Amino acid sequence: MDPKGKVAIVTGGGSGIGRATACTLSRAGAAVVVADVDEDGGRETVRLIESEGGRAAFVPVDVTRWEDLERMVSFAEETFGGVDILHNNAGVATGRPRFPDAPRERWERTLDIDLWAVIAAIQVVVPAMRRRGGGVIVNTASLAGVMGYQPDPVYCAAKHGVVGLTRALVFLKDEAGIRVNCICPGVVDTPLIYRGIQSLEGQERDYWETYIRNMPKLQPEDVAEAVLTFVRDDSLNGEAMGLLPGSAPRLIPPAIKLERDPSQRL
Ligand SMILES: NC(=O)c1ccc[n+]([C@@H]2O[C@H](COP(=O)([O-])OP(=O)(O)OC[C@H]3O[C@@H](n4cnc5c(N)ncnc54)[C@H](O)[C@@H]3O)[C@@H](O)[C@H]2O)c1
Repeated sequence: MDPKGKVAIVTGGGSGIGRATACTLSRAGAAVVVADVDEDGGRETVRLIESEGGRAAFVPVDVTRWEDLERMVSFAEETFGGVDILHNNAGVATGRPRFPDAPRERWERTLDIDLWAVIAAIQVVVPAMRRRGGGVIVNTASLAGVMGYQPDPVYCAAKHGVVGLTRALVFLKDEAGIRVNCICPGVVDTPLIYRGIQSLEGQERDYWETYIRNMPKLQPEDVAEAVLTFVRDDSLNGEAMGLLPGSAPRLIPPAIKLERDPSQRL
């Protein structure tokens, strides 16, 4: 899909990867709805886009609230005439202490934002995309969605869920002209990676701060380019794209692919 003249929604568009995607899609010609629970961050992304001559609007959304997701889609239709692209990107890490010591409310929040909301936003946006004759959905998973990520087991579980969901939704292309793919970045230089160590103290905090500062990282713009690739390339459907600093992006095949998958007949 050529994003020029199209309408995109970016959840978590007020910071990091979402902001970079919002700006990249705008430069590629799309009008962008920036959806975020952080009003200041979201409005700043809109300001950045408008300062470059693009079209954008902010809508306050908590992605864990069904009614907010419905309002987000109606807002896009009322403001820009429809929805063609969804970057399902808002996300959080669980933070310390690590599961199973994390209090239940913390890991439930991780699951709500990182998995439930991704599923819910797709259910809410698909009817709007059907009205446009198709669309593109790009979910933000993580490398933690294709490997065992010990620092945050529940985040890891949620991101595996996002990868599985993406691969299982390939039928939407034939059924509704909607392609669903996901990106699986390694460490990206955004506020999220520093938030996890805020609860640490003393030497442990110093150690992790230095470690994170010095490790090779992707930039949010690298991830935004991968999102744009998924939007532009109509052949990509049900794919997970791995991104690591210093390496070319590559598609990650499922660990097992049945030669004759009976579910394809359903
Ligand atoms: N930074 C990394 O190393 C990294 C690596 C792989 C995947 N990711 C994923 O990338 C996505 C974006 O993260 P980021 O690194 O840009 O972090 P970030 O903290 O910079 O941005 C996340 C955004 O999501 C918003 N958000 C959080 N909860 C929300 C809610 N309930 N409703 C609406 N918006 C909400 C925040 O306000 C923020 O603007 C997340 O899904 C994250 O899991 C990040």
